[in-house]
Amino acid sequence: EGLRSITYSRRRQVLLFFSVLCLSSVLGQVSYSIPEEMAKGSLVGNIAQDLGLDVKRIQAGKARIHTGDSAEYIQLNKEKGLLIIKEKIDREALCGQTTPCALHFQIALENPIEIFPITVEITDINDNAPVFEKEERRFEISESAVIGSKFMLERAIDPDIARNGLQSYTLKPSDHFMLKLHSQSDGGKKVEMILQKPLDREKQEFASLLLTAIDGGEPQRSGTMQIHITVLDANDNAPVFTQNIYKANVKENAITGTLITKLSASDVDKGSNGEVSYVIGNSMSSISKLFLVTEDGHLILNGPIDYEKAKKYEIDIEAVDRGGLSDSSKVVIDVGDINDNSPIINMISSSNSIGEDSRPNTVVAAMSVNDPDSEENGKVRCVIDKNIPFIITPTSTNFYSIVTYSELDRERASEYNITVSCSDEGVPSLSSSVTLTLQISDVNDNAPVFERSSYEAYIVENNTPGLSIFTMKARDADWNQNARVSYILEDSSVNGVPVSSYVSVSADSGVIHAVRSFDYEQIKDFHFRVKAQDGGSPPLSSNVTVKILIQDQNDNPPQVLYPVQTGGSLVAEMVPRSADVGYLVTKVVAVDVDSGQNAWLSYKLQKATDRALFEVGLQNGEIRTIRQVTDKDAVKQRLTVIVEDNGQPSRSATVIVNVAVADSFPEVLSEFTDFTHDKEYNDNLTFYLVLALAVVSFLFITCLVVIISVKIYRWRQSRILYHSNLPVIPYYPPRYSDTLGTGTLQHVYNYEVCRTTDSRKSDCKFGRAGTLPFHNTFSAVLLSELNGPLLPSLLQS
Ligand SMILES: *[C@@H]1O[C@H](CO)[C@@H](O)[C@H](O)[C@H]1NC(C)=O
Ligand SMILES: *[C@@H]1O[C@H](CO)[C@@H](O)[C@H](O)[C@H]1NC(C)=O
Repeated sequence: EGLRSITYSRRRQVLLFFSVLCLSSVLGQVSYSIPEEMAKGSLVGNIAQDLGLDVKRIQAGKARIHTGDSAEYIQLNKEKGLLIIKEKIDREALCGQTTPCALHFQIALENPIEIFPITVEITDINDNAPVFEKEERRFEISESAVIGSKFMLERAIDPDIARNGLQSYTLKPSDHFMLKLHSQSDGGKKVEMILQKPLDREKQEFASLLLTAIDGGEPQRSGTMQIHITVLDANDNAPVFTQNIYKANVKENAITGTLITKLSASDVDKGSNGEVSYVIGNSMSSISKLFLVTEDGHLILNGPIDYEKAKKYEIDIEAVDRGGLSDSSKVVIDVGDINDNSPIINMISSSNSIGEDSRPNTVVAAMSVNDPDSEENGKVRCVIDKNIPFIITPTSTNFYSIVTYSELDRERASEYNITVSCSDEGVPSLSSSVTLTLQISDVNDNAPVFERSSYEAYIVENNTPGLSIFTMKARDADWNQNARVSYILEDSSVNGVPVSSYVSVSADSGVIHAVRSFDYEQIKDFHFRVKAQDGGSPPLSSNVTVKILIQDQNDNPPQVLYPVQTGGSLVAEMVPRSADVGYLVTKVVAVDVDSGQNAWLSYKLQKATDRALFEVGLQNGEIRTIRQVTDKDAVKQRLTVIVEDNGQPSRSATVIVNVAVADSFPEVLSEFTDFTHDKEYNDNLTFYLVLALAVVSFLFITCLVVIISVKIYRWRQSRILYHSNLPVIPYYPPRYSDTLGTGTLQHVYNYEVCRTTDSRKSDCKFGRAGTLPFHNTFSAVLLSELNGPLLPSLLQS
């Protein structure tokens, strides 16, 4: 098809040139016009016909083409008289840009010589495309290049001329650049590429443009050049954080270096323009000290954080690229609480001491308790020891008071250590405690108490006045003044005399002193009350009974009751000469007002006219004969009997007993010549004797009746005991049992004697110790000495 079109085009050209030929043949000059690039052998023109020559002439004329020095592109076909292409003709090589382009040659004939100039014009065909010198061109353009920036491009070359020459350029794609052509003086065109839309490396870093140069031939030809544009980065993008706000949690007390969060900002720029570094933007230095952000965006903890100081941190973070562009973000860090604070106990006020009479619910101390931790970690409970009479009660939030719970008693506990323990509810729980020392002050609520419920003390009679008898002691459980005990003797009387004249009590020491010297024979015991009173206000007191027992001393010698010792008169016992051995001459009767051993008497014969005739009963004082009285024995016998008590030292009394050994009164009287009496005395004697006889008889009978009735009574008693099969217990009156354990004497004669020294009235009684066989002797004496002066003296005593 291509070939056919070429052929067609040549035919048109040929027709065109024929009209030219007709014109020039007239002038004798033949011109042809052929397009370049015709194939070898192609017809240029029928020269024979155009020159009007016969083919024979051409053959005969040896026609030839004369070209001078130029190459032979065209040859002559002599047989047909045609000009044909010998060498392919390239117009561009032949003429370059010169127009018109023609081959000038002559056809020379001989015989005759004829020369015909021939001109063959070579017309251009579009056989050359525009061509760039280089196939590609590289540009590096900063993305910051301003609109209108110009970039010079190479021109393309198209050797064809006129319409077949270079006509225009196109650039594709044309979104950023446009072309601008400047016509040059040489007819060429300067090509510029102008930036018409900003470049953005971040959108498109590389661009490939195709520059096409187009000619105007038919068909059109073009040449291209690749333009490679590399967009250079400019720092036109700031870093951008991935989040507006970063949230993070960190536990308080987390160790330094703990990663809190990872920050990230991106910068679409390239290279150093895209290198982001992070800084903490807070101007508050405390925050910038606490946290640290690394180059690569790790936010790490750089110091201790304390929930109790700050629960939340807001950190401004900046991301900066090398070009100085930045973005900011915020990190919100919630600090998590850890139970790291013990409760803090603050005593607001507390008493050092309270009275033991304080009522329940008395406030002892008030305090506040705080725990800076949060939630459960900050919930506090306070307790105190259960075993003390105090409780802790909350008064309002975080306030507590300690109040008394029950009665206090200083005497039971004078001091309390109240330990308040507060603990929070964290896990593990933390606690703290405070100890409060509370003194219980004294109130006089205890009376003095004597060590014993009653006191009994002994004092030996004849003491020196002022002697301390004993010390009593009362204790008071209270304290100090309330426990200072004074002893007070309470008023009472002993035998009608105020007790204060017997004893005194030392108020401070409780020593009881005898005020006077006591006489056992006068007073054997007495009692009184002593009050112990403390120094409180009002004072409390108690009292106790004190019994003082006076102990006997051997301060009284025995007293001989019989025989009566009269000053001048002479009394004698009569012993008949016929008396047998063991004849009871008389009985010495003595008493001792002391008691016990001190009154325990023994009798001894101290002196005797004839020691071999009489003896004295050691215990009973009976004087008996120990041999038969003989005629040789003197009528007048004189015995000295000593009576001793058993005291230490013992005291004694002596008595002289006169014994007359005779059968009749006259004999006695003659012997006792110094028995001289007044006549007057003898006159009255008869009357006295009769009176005495009557009295004695009455007494005797009375005694008999009493003794018999006692005997009968005892017999009956013993019968009753016998019949009731009970063991017969010998009856000892209470006093008899006091044998003082010596046991040497089976019979103790106890005379309970109340003596009055000067009174004539005798209080002496032979009381219940009625077994004294005194009445026998008594009657014997009465019988034997009716005429003697015995009776008055007996009555006297
Ligand atoms: C109270 O504590 C003090 C000091 O620790 C101690 O000396 C005292 O004996 C304690 N008192 C009581 C009643 O425990
Ligand atoms: C002595 O104490 C008793 C109780 O032990 C009391 O009843 C009595 O009134 C007190 N006497 C005096 C005088 O205080």
